[in-house]
Amino acid sequence: MYVISDSPNPSRMVCFGASGTCVQVMLDLVHQSQGAPRFSGYVADRFGSRVHADGHPVSSLEEVAEWGDVGIVVPIHDPRDRRSVFTRIRKLGIPILGSRGLPHLSHPAAALGEGVIVSSTTRVGFATTIGNASLALGDLIAHDVTVGEYCTFAAGSIVLGHVNIGDDVFVGAGAIIKNGTSSRPLNIGTGAVIGVGAVVDRDVPPGAVVISPRARPLREALS
Ligand SMILES: CC(C)(COP(=O)(O)OP(=O)(O)OC[C@H]1O[C@@H](n2cnc3c(N)ncnc32)[C@H](O)[C@@H]1OP(=O)(O)O)[C@@H](O)C(=O)NCCC(=O)NCCS
Repeated sequence: MYVISDSPNPSRMVCFGASGTCVQVMLDLVHQSQGAPRFSGYVADRFGSRVHADGHPVSSLEEVAEWGDVGIVVPIHDPRDRRSVFTRIRKLGIPILGSRGLPHLSHPAAALGEGVIVSSTTRVGFATTIGNASLALGDLIAHDVTVGEYCTFAAGSIVLGHVNIGDDVFVGAGAIIKNGTSSRPLNIGTGAVIGVGAVVDRDVPPGAVVISPRARPLREALS
C-alpha cells in the first residue's frame, strides 16, 4: 500500500466511510496489504455509535488527524462526495493511501494515479491509465482505456478496450461499456452516470445518466 505523498508509509490505516460497501473494500485492501499498515477503524461524520458492528472503532476525521502515523483510504462511491472528502483530508494533512504497489491484476504497463483503489479481482489492461482518486471495483477495465479523476467502477462492471472516460464518472454495478477502436475511441463525458446493468455502445455526453431496459416478465408467475 503506497502513500500518495513522499512521506514514509504509516503503520496504521483507517477507512473513510463505514457503509457495507466500505467494509467490503476495506477487507479486500487488508488482505492485499497483508495487514500492513494495520487497520485501525473507520472514519464517519454521522454514525450512531463509536464502535462499528464489525468491532472496529469509529472516529471523526479531526480525531484521526491528531493520531499521527496513520494513513487513510477513501472508498466512498459517489465521485462528488469523494472529491469533497479528499479536499478535507488534504487540508488536515493526513496521508491518503491507494493500491499502487499492492498485488492486484493490473497489467504492469497500466498506470494508476495517486490514491486510486483497485480491488484484488479487478483486471486493468495494457496501456490503460486510471486518474487520481478513482475507485476500480469492477471486473475489468481493459487495454487502451483512459480514466479521469474521481471515477467509480462498481462491482461487476466491465469496460472494454479503446474507451476514454472523463472525470467524476460513475459506472454502476454490472454495467458494460463496449469497446471503441484505436481510430475512434468510445467517449464517456465528465460527470456521466451509467446505471446498474446498462449496456453502453456509443458515446455518453457529459453529465448524462444512461440506463438499459429493465428486466421484463417473459412468463406468468406460477399460480
Ligand atoms: C441510474 C440511477 C443512478 C438512477 O437513479 P435515480 O435517478 O435515483 O432513478 P430512480 O431510482 O428514481 O429511477 C427512475 C426510473 O428509472 C428506472 N431505473 C433506475 N435505474 C435503472 C437501471 N439501472 N436500469 C433500468 N431502469 C432503471 C427506475 O426503475 C425508475 O423507473 P420508473 O420511473 O418506471 O419507476 C440508479 O438507478 C443506478 O443504477 N445507480 C447505480 C447503483 C450502483 O451501481 N451502485 C453500486 C453499489 S453502491
